[in-house]
Amino acid sequence: MLDTWTKVDEYLGDLLSPTDEDLEAALQANEKAGLPPIDVSRLLGKFLNLLVRISGARRVLEIGTLGGYSTIWLARALPEGGRIASLESDLHHADVATLNLHNAGVLDRVDMFIGRAIDSLPILEASGDGPFDLIFIDADKESYAEYLDWSLKLSHPGTVIVADNVVRDGKVVEPDNADPRIQGVRRFNERLAAEPRLSATALQTVGPKGYDGFALAVVLR
Ligand code: SAH
Ligand code: DHB
Ligand code: MG
Repeated sequence: MLDTWTKVDEYLGDLLSPTDEDLEAALQANEKAGLPPIDVSRLLGKFLNLLVRISGARRVLEIGTLGGYSTIWLARALPEGGRIASLESDLHHADVATLNLHNAGVLDRVDMFIGRAIDSLPILEASGDGPFDLIFIDADKESYAEYLDWSLKLSHPGTVIVADNVVRDGKVVEPDNADPRIQGVRRFNERLAAEPRLSATALQTVGPKGYDGFALAVVLR
């Protein structure tokens, strides 16, 4: 099936989410710098871009920058004066991202926070940068549930929360899976379901990187 998923991703991607020099350059720079190829797909990048537009978000929070590929998609949708705070713990990743964002002409809209997200989030809160209109969670899966708590703290009614990788090849349904990342995603999904301030759904996705999915939530109150 992977072959079909890849072909369809290319077909739809070419039509609806065409790549361009800046996006390609970012992916090539990532590869050259040895970053893992775990960026969002271009169709998911376009989805994030559309979510920013649909929600009218002006302040975006991203947890997990990698080389800034998703950051570029998010930044391109911002209105004049809109800003993204992007959190990354790996200095090398953050360096590569900074150059990619500069080359893509969006660095002036991005505030990079280098350090473990769990340490940067209180700093972000204290700095008064929030509340955020859209939050994209895509860092270490073990901490997703804590990131959801922080997202609520840094949100307002109407804030959109998106979390990548909540299906993990279907392993998410295995309660006894020993992988702490699977357990992390399970805790996240359960907290999402239990939180009365949120209304959420999750969608399964397939593509060139296999089978995964994302959760989408809105803050009600
Ligand atoms: N959003 C990116 C992909 C992010 S990959 C894109 O789609 O282009 C996940 C990133 O989270 C990696 O760069 C990893 O270094 C970072 N990360 C892992 N643990 C982290 C932590 N505790 N705090 C902040 N970032 C972390
Ligand atoms: C991994 C992380 C991601 O954010 C992703 O989209 C795919 C894989 C990982 O850590 O393996
Ligand atoms: Mg991801």
